[in-house]
Amino acid sequence: MRYLTVALAKGRLAKKAMKMFEAIGIFCDEMKDEDSRKLIFVNEKLGMRFFLAKASDVPTYVEYGAADIGIVGRDTILEEGRKLYEVMDLAIGKCRMCVCGPETARERLKHHELIRVATKYPNIAKDYFYNQKYQTVEIIKLNGSIELAPIVGLSEVIVDIVETGSTLRENGLTVLEEVCGLSARMVVNQVSMKTENQRITRIIKDFQGLLKETGG
Ligand code: PRP
Repeated sequence: MRYLTVALAKGRLAKKAMKMFEAIGIFCDEMKDEDSRKLIFVNEKLGMRFFLAKASDVPTYVEYGAADIGIVGRDTILEEGRKLYEVMDLAIGKCRMCVCGPETARERLKHHELIRVATKYPNIAKDYFYNQKYQTVEIIKLNGSIELAPIVGLSEVIVDIVETGSTLRENGLTVLEEVCGLSARMVVNQVSMKTENQRITRIIKDFQGLLKETGG
């Protein structure tokens, strides 16, 4: 039996997703050792391997078939635009992609003024402003702490993830528009979906059963 390989986006999402795998009887105890520097974790009995990767790399591993299955946020899937199958919503890591800024930016946004938009998600921002709103904006790519941009005057607004809204509140910013809802998704390599159909379908069905039980 060939290994079925699962790529997980590092961090909170990976921990929650592993709990879901455990609930359907797929364990990988090796992964729980937080001090370990190991990159790949194997369950020989089940013929499965798991690895943690930077979220934005998960769709790449899955598109090329280095991972059969990926667990990653919808934000990353939309931003990366890789060829893969998005097979299910795991109902974890729920949050929203929003246009945010100070209240004073609301009018400028509404009147389609040429504003600057800072974001870690330039493709999502482009699609939203150019294709959905037909609004011309200047997009500035940042890599983190996006909320800083309107505070220090780099941009008028940002496109970023809002979960509890506390980062915005603590920095005097607010949600101005909602781009889309987000949550963790299971993605599958397009060839693996055929060659490993039985094993992958089993996992999807078990996850669906689990979500039904837990009301997710
Ligand atoms: C994310 C996001 C916001 C924050 C939203 O940042 O970019 O900054 O979480 O969460 P909240 O609405 O619950 O406050 P993350 O912590 O992933 O780090 P980053 O700033 O490096 O992107």
